[in-house]
Amino acid sequence: MIDDMRCKRVTSASWGIRALCLAAGVTLLSISVGAQSIGGRWVATGKALDNGELQKAILDIKQDGVQLTGTVKMPGYLAEVKGSAAGNHFELFGGASATIPFMAGDLVNGELRIIKDSGDSWLAKPFSPADESPVAGYIEPPQLHKVPYNGLAKTPPMGWNSWNLFESKIDDATVRTIADALVSSGMRDAGYIYVNIDDTWEGLRDAQGNLQANHKFPDMKALADYVHSKGLKLGIYSSPGPRTCAGYPASYGHEEQDAKTFAVWGVDYLKYDWCSARSIYKNDKLQAVYQKMGDALQATGRPIVYSLCEYGWGSVEKWGADAGGNLWRTTDDIRDEWSSMIANIERQVPTASYAGPGHWNDPDMLEVGNGHMTDDEYRTHMSLWAVTASPLLAGNDVRNMSAATREILLNKEVIAIDQDPLGKQASPARNGNLETWIKPLADGGVAVAVVNLGSTATQAKVNARDLHLGGAANKARDLWTHQDVEFADGAYSATVPAHGVLLLRVWAH
Ligand code: GLA
Repeated sequence: MIDDMRCKRVTSASWGIRALCLAAGVTLLSISVGAQSIGGRWVATGKALDNGELQKAILDIKQDGVQLTGTVKMPGYLAEVKGSAAGNHFELFGGASATIPFMAGDLVNGELRIIKDSGDSWLAKPFSPADESPVAGYIEPPQLHKVPYNGLAKTPPMGWNSWNLFESKIDDATVRTIADALVSSGMRDAGYIYVNIDDTWEGLRDAQGNLQANHKFPDMKALADYVHSKGLKLGIYSSPGPRTCAGYPASYGHEEQDAKTFAVWGVDYLKYDWCSARSIYKNDKLQAVYQKMGDALQATGRPIVYSLCEYGWGSVEKWGADAGGNLWRTTDDIRDEWSSMIANIERQVPTASYAGPGHWNDPDMLEVGNGHMTDDEYRTHMSLWAVTASPLLAGNDVRNMSAATREILLNKEVIAIDQDPLGKQASPARNGNLETWIKPLADGGVAVAVVNLGSTATQAKVNARDLHLGGAANKARDLWTHQDVEFADGAYSATVPAHGVLLLRVWAH
């Protein structure tokens, strides 16, 4: 039954859930209740990480009849779980909204044989005190102050990131071929400059505490040199906690040392992901903890774009720039699904006034080209990211793109809306299934995106008087058909396909 698991990624940073497995055959058949309870403390081990360390989790489970509640503590995060037991079989879910088990398995001969949501097999034995992992001591974060602006990211950062498609299957050779493809596809020249390595590059610390890359990245400096030789920039990833979300060593207590290492390697961009920092700090310390790395990056003297990744917690938009951030995530992890993409962009709405040159709200990386949305939906995704001045970090395999994916990611007229120097983030107005986002542009004109949230094609009408242009709409252009269009009698109408978008640029003069 367990062999039948089909897994699909659903990364959810707040629950640390890495994958969604459609457990086709896993059912809670009622069988006789085993002699032993699933409740208790267990130490579970999984497969080895790419740095050789064994994945480990401590399960603290309370069983009350068939109900299970408790926690699963892993190096990168702590998940609160609940679920049920039927005989020797159990299922544990990572959160109220989860419908798929975080861990499922069976109690056999006093051990838990577990299948994790990633599809990996784990084995849990009864816990003994020797299994307790050393607890990282508390380090008081610094007093708050304003980190000076580093002068970077005057327009939303553009590039590519490994996580959405490759997750842990990323290595030096892949990054090099991605860099090559960014050049040969024209993406670099369209502005996609940053090549960002996400989680799972990390090795172990050496005797001096210097963080090494693991075997997948034998020479990070040589890789940075290669990326730079292509006219691109290199990004890397770490966490302010002891462990990254994927359980690798992170920068807690090593902030300055790691910032220096990144600078020596030639890194140009750091994504800094809260993850296990939550096991040490409450949200009231978010700013101070992010400020610490902001200062450390600046102390290196190397210009490094600083990307805060803490899922929008603690109203990051209000203090992200003061902590030295050039961009900050405002949402949980995006998934390659219409509902996730729309939910993430809607969560941008309250943050709109905080976006501007040098500091941007980040609704997460692009999923365009990853295969689980229609081309109309991907056009909507790209249009929404553009009118909200969001970072454009492609998350697909740019070495192998369909014509439609290329056309979407390389639409220079749409990119120009995202990169407009005024740096305004559009806000939406809803009318039935149509949502209209208007972004003021530096030349006095506007970009207008009308999104059809419904599942049938709908006629959209854009009235010039709603565009606040201080005059007539003089010239207008449809940025997906690349045609000039006319505002007849002060309005322009067009049919918008289901989940599609009408994206206009309108000039006042
Ligand atoms: C978190 C982040 C993701 C990604 C993973 C890597 O979930 O939000 O964007 O970086 O961690 O483990």
